[in-house]
Amino acid sequence: MPKREGALRCPLLPMRAILGPLLLLAFPGFADAPGRLGFAADTVDIHATSGAQSGPIGKLLTASPVTALGPVEDGWRPVAVAGWTLVGAERALQAAPGIRVTRAALGPDGVGALSFGASRDDPETGQTWTRARLTGWIAVDTVALSPDLDTLWRRAEALFATRCTTCHVRRVPAHYTANQWTSHLKVMGPRTGLPRADQALIRVFLQYHSADAAALAAALTED
Ligand code: HEC
Repeated sequence: MPKREGALRCPLLPMRAILGPLLLLAFPGFADAPGRLGFAADTVDIHATSGAQSGPIGKLLTASPVTALGPVEDGWRPVAVAGWTLVGAERALQAAPGIRVTRAALGPDGVGALSFGASRDDPETGQTWTRARLTGWIAVDTVALSPDLDTLWRRAEALFATRCTTCHVRRVPAHYTANQWTSHLKVMGPRTGLPRADQALIRVFLQYHSADAAALAAALTED
């Protein structure tokens, strides 16, 4: 019996050693793609084609999950961001139907870079939301991506704990919905005196820890 086990196990080791490099040869440059690249650590310009001459078609917003579609070419990477758009408001790609955690804000030319999927009616609001996927190119050297959300949240929580408690007690993130946090931050954000990027980071941190936290976590696995 021990002899037989050995016979089964041994051939697997060389197989793995051979298969790994073979896969790399079959897909050159794909060793680090495709797949989830990371999360926007700040706003990130997205372009319709590789190269800056075409100008950006929109911005990915802080914490937007970015998927690689292929390898880097001359400093540019083809990427996709998935989400939902409200019918009639296609220039804002949101994380989930009815939950306005904006993943991308598009210019007039940006809507053409969206591909649409199935629609869903939200019975509470009577609104129709459509699955949408934005594809484009980002300049890898100039954009800030975080490998995970926790890295972003550590900085956000420190800002929230110190800058949102100077006038009143610390509010409980889960006591408000993601959409309520958007409204509150419009008023409270400027009161902190922080740069807009930091206000946006606090907002999205609070949204991901809001009453909609479970729906937002689920939306991250949908991409
Ligand atoms: C300069 C003072 C000040 C700062 C800084 C401040 N707040 Fe406020 N906050 C207030 C005041 C005053 C109110 C009472 C309602 C009002 O005036 O809008 C309030 C109310 C609130 C409310 C309750 C609103 C409601 O209608 O229930 C929330 C939530 C809140 N703040 C969150 C925050 C967050 C998050 C930050 C940090 C981004 C922050 N605040 C920073 C002054 C401040």
